[in-house]
Amino acid sequence: MEIIKVKDYDAMSEAACSFMVERINRIDHPVLGLATGSTPEGLYKRLIEKYKLGEVSFKNVKSFNLDEYVGLDKNDPNSYYYFMKTKLFDHVDIFMDNVRVPNGTADDLQQECQEHENAIRAAGGIDVQLLGIGANGHIGFNEPGTPFTSRTHVVDLEESTIKANSRFFNSIEEVPTQAISMGIETIMNSKEILLLVSGESKAEALAKLLNGEVTEEVPASVLKNHPKVTIIADEAAFSAAG
Ligand code: F6R
Repeated sequence: MEIIKVKDYDAMSEAACSFMVERINRIDHPVLGLATGSTPEGLYKRLIEKYKLGEVSFKNVKSFNLDEYVGLDKNDPNSYYYFMKTKLFDHVDIFMDNVRVPNGTADDLQQECQEHENAIRAAGGIDVQLLGIGANGHIGFNEPGTPFTSRTHVVDLEESTIKANSRFFNSIEEVPTQAISMGIETIMNSKEILLLVSGESKAEALAKLLNGEVTEEVPASVLKNHPKVTIIADEAAFSAAG
């Protein structure tokens, strides 16, 4: 596990951008696993800038998103599909046929989970998986207690996650209670993983990951079992790690 400590959110985004650009340029037909949320927004902004400068192209990139809310349509501003489209895909030269965000309005959600798995496999697996972390240690929407053997599945969101994510919605009642998420094993099958962590609200989760044992109670702790993980975290995120 390589741990890179940076000053603040901007420095984290900058370092993450260099990391991703290097992989996208080096890997022939890169397959990316992407995350939503506040953490990668600065990275996506910088990737767009690099694309505009001609320093990176997404023409050969395939991407798979980690998760999507159940019940939100692609055009819903709170859907993760919409997030990805407006924060990254619309601004770079990626082919929309090459991106896959789980469909949270599929008639058969189990089938949709299976199709996400099948598509990842058909693409040859994920080369670089980008992750954020929840204050409770979740990765994707895999809440504490999720088996390490899980594949893409429908999950019930924890109260704390619903509360944390309600900042994007008009009211907490509008936050979906379920999501489709890549499973822990799906994530662990990626060839390389980049975890970004910023802010004091994540400090406890990062400390548990770095100093605690590998346990399903802290989903991110599984990353210690992966051969190629880089963590880029800022000073505030490290404040509880000792
Ligand atoms: C998002 C995802 C989540 C977030 C995590 C942190 O696709 O899978 O695990 O990475 O909830 O969210 P932010 O970055 O908003 O603090």
